[in-house]
Amino acid sequence: MRTKVIAGNWKMNKLLGEAVEFVEDTKSKVPSSEKVESVVCAPFPYLPTLVEKAKGTDLAIAAQNMHFEESGAFTGEVSPSMLKDIGVTYVVLGHSERREMFAETDETVNKKAHAAFAHGLIPIICVGETLEERESNETMNIVEKQVKAAIEGLSEEQVRASIIAYEPIWAIGTGKTATSEQANEVCTHIRKVVAQTQSETAAEAVRIQYGGSVKPANVDELLSQSDIDGALVGGASLEADSFLQLVEAGAK
Ligand code: 13P
Repeated sequence: MRTKVIAGNWKMNKLLGEAVEFVEDTKSKVPSSEKVESVVCAPFPYLPTLVEKAKGTDLAIAAQNMHFEESGAFTGEVSPSMLKDIGVTYVVLGHSERREMFAETDETVNKKAHAAFAHGLIPIICVGETLEERESNETMNIVEKQVKAAIEGLSEEQVRASIIAYEPIWAIGTGKTATSEQANEVCTHIRKVVAQTQSETAAEAVRIQYGGSVKPANVDELLSQSDIDGALVGGASLEADSFLQLVEAGAK
């Protein structure tokens, strides 16, 4: 059985005091279970503090992005070794907001996935289609292309350890969740693509999350699907109570 991963992506929200309060409120309440991993993806300035606060608990702290280079003249960027050095364990890569607003491409996502593994970080690789692409029946092709590009050149072991988040762009922050069938259909396809391009073993092990307007009211239904192994959650992860309900659903 694949361990579910519930990750709260705070995006560009909260001030330091609020971030610390959230971690203090949740760190001893997240389930200590083989069934679920609980992750908070926080803004860069809070990472060292939150990693320190969450040390020794079942709450993992993740970054929302990173550069693929080790160091150098990249003003404003953060390297994988910096994240590793402060104790971050997961990193979100290729979120649609970064692809749309900050020129991330399939190629940079692939470079970042390699860099993450080179530094012992687990990537949460985001893929997903626009509304226009869904309406023109392009969903499977788009997602397939994104997944293939993202995992290109990774070893079987690295693909097994990866987390892929299927986030249809039209469902992000809109309150319009994909139906559990729609979400599962794409997650099943992603697993098939991993089997074809890497191996059955990698496909069996890779965790595939759904993201897009996940909340306590719909999480059970989504997590009950055969190929959905967790959720990447924006809005509903900002409040401690709501986040805890989501991770508890993952532990069922
Ligand atoms: P919402 O849960 O707010 O729709 O955001 C989803 C998301 O983009 C998580 O990365």
